[in-house]
Formats: sequence, structure tokens, C-alpha cells
Amino acid sequence: MVGSAAADRPSGIPGPRRRRRPHQATGDPLARLDGPDLADHYHFAARALQLVADIADPKILELGAGHGALSRKLLEMHPTAQVTVTDIDPVSVSNLVSGDLGGHPRAVVRQMDATDIDAPDRSYDLALFALAFHHLPPVPAARVLAEGTRVANKLLICDMRRPPAPLHLIRLASFLPFALVLPLAHDGLISSLRAYSPSGFRALAAHEDPAITVEFGRMGRNQIVLAQRRRPTPLGSA
Ligand SMILES: C[S@@+](CC[C@H](N)C(=O)[O-])C[C@H]1O[C@@H](n2cnc3c(N)ncnc32)[C@H](O)[C@@H]1O
Repeated sequence: MVGSAAADRPSGIPGPRRRRRPHQATGDPLARLDGPDLADHYHFAARALQLVADIADPKILELGAGHGALSRKLLEMHPTAQVTVTDIDPVSVSNLVSGDLGGHPRAVVRQMDATDIDAPDRSYDLALFALAFHHLPPVPAARVLAEGTRVANKLLICDMRRPPAPLHLIRLASFLPFALVLPLAHDGLISSLRAYSPSGFRALAAHEDPAITVEFGRMGRNQIVLAQRRRPTPLGSA
């Protein structure tokens, strides 16, 4: 099974629903018009909701929400989920507040720093951080793992996948000529250089707290990382 999706997927991360485009799954013909980013959000939302499938009204925290596409998908796809939509950037937060999410009955929009989350321990069932982790240098990135697993039972990260070093080198070399002239290719090249590998994630988690575990899965061009914190069992409950 080496190289198969099943081999890449750890037990804690739900598997992808393959061969179904968003418009096929939702029946919404407009979803066909979604760009790749919105398709990523749809697939990420579907994976995230599988992690809270056994909770009636899950409380979900989105960190670094940007324009809110992921939170919007979560609210569309789950009829009772409560979503706290956050970002560190005041302009993004102000746009979110004045948009549809600001008036959604099951959404709360707040400004929040993912490295220093203003919420009590275990106040959410699930925290999400999408397409932003590679923007963070190691110290704040490690803090996101610590804070996300403090305030939520599970932290699910979706970010660019960093291929093994030899393959990465070949990809970088083939990208380089395009990166010199195409802004999108340039951004892709920089992002891929910043992306954390599984061993990078493990080192960040271990640096913060050995009780934080990380498991890895694949979602197309991205990797999915499920971080959780082993919590001590209360005396007498074993
Ligand atoms: C590339 S955007 C991704 C937006 C969104 N998650 C998505 O999937 O489209 C990265 C976002 O992370 C936010 N961000 C960066 N550092 C952050 C931090 N420390 N805490 C919270 N948000 C942060 C940025 O403001 C930006 O909105």
C-alpha cells in the first residue's frame, strides 16, 4: 500500500471522499464555479466535520479565517454547528463583521491571535487553521500548536505539503524560471520553501509540549495535520 491514500492517512484523520466535486456533493451548480481555493475549503470543511460527527452542536473555532470561506462552508454543511470566525488582521475582521458571517445566527466574528488565543481551556470541540501555517516562523507556529490544542480538543491544520527533499529540489528547480516572471509562481515557490514538513511539525509540537501529538494526512496538494493533547486521566475515572 506504499504511496496509496490509505497508507498516507493516519487513523485519527478522516479519509477524503474521492471523485466527488463540490457541485456533485452539494447539488449546487454554482459550486462548479468555485476556484481551487474554494474547492480546498469545501474538502477541508468536509474533513473537519467528520471529526465532530459524534457531537450534536459542535463548537468550532476558525483561526486566521481571512475572508471566511472555510467558516462559510462549515455553516452551510452543518445545520447546528456554532462557528467562531477569527483573524489577527483588523481589516479582515472588520470585513467579516460587515459581511454575511457578521449577521449569521450561528457565527461569532472576533479578532484573535492564533498564537495567544483569548479563550478558556477546552472551550471548543475543534479548532481549524487553513492555508496560513507556513506564513509563521517556527516560534509562533509552535505557539499555534500549543494554543490550538489548549482551547480545543482537536486542532486541524490544512497547509501546503512539503515534499521529501529530493523531490522538493527537482520541483524548485523546475519552478524557478517561471517564478522569475510570474507572480503566482513566485508566491508558490516562496510558500513551498516555507512549508513545514512532518518532521518540522513534530519538532514544533515537542518543543512546546511532549503531550501534543501530531498525525498527518493528504488532501490533494495540501497536507492535513491533526494535533491533539494527551490529557491526564482524572484520578478514579480509569
Ligand atoms: C493566506 S490567508 C488564509 C486565509 C484563510 N484561512 C483561507 O483559508 O483562505 C492567512 C491568514 O492568516 C492570518 N494570520 C496570520 N497570522 C495570524 C495569527 N498569528 N493569528 C491569526 N491569524 C493570523 C492572516 O491575517 C490571514 O488572514
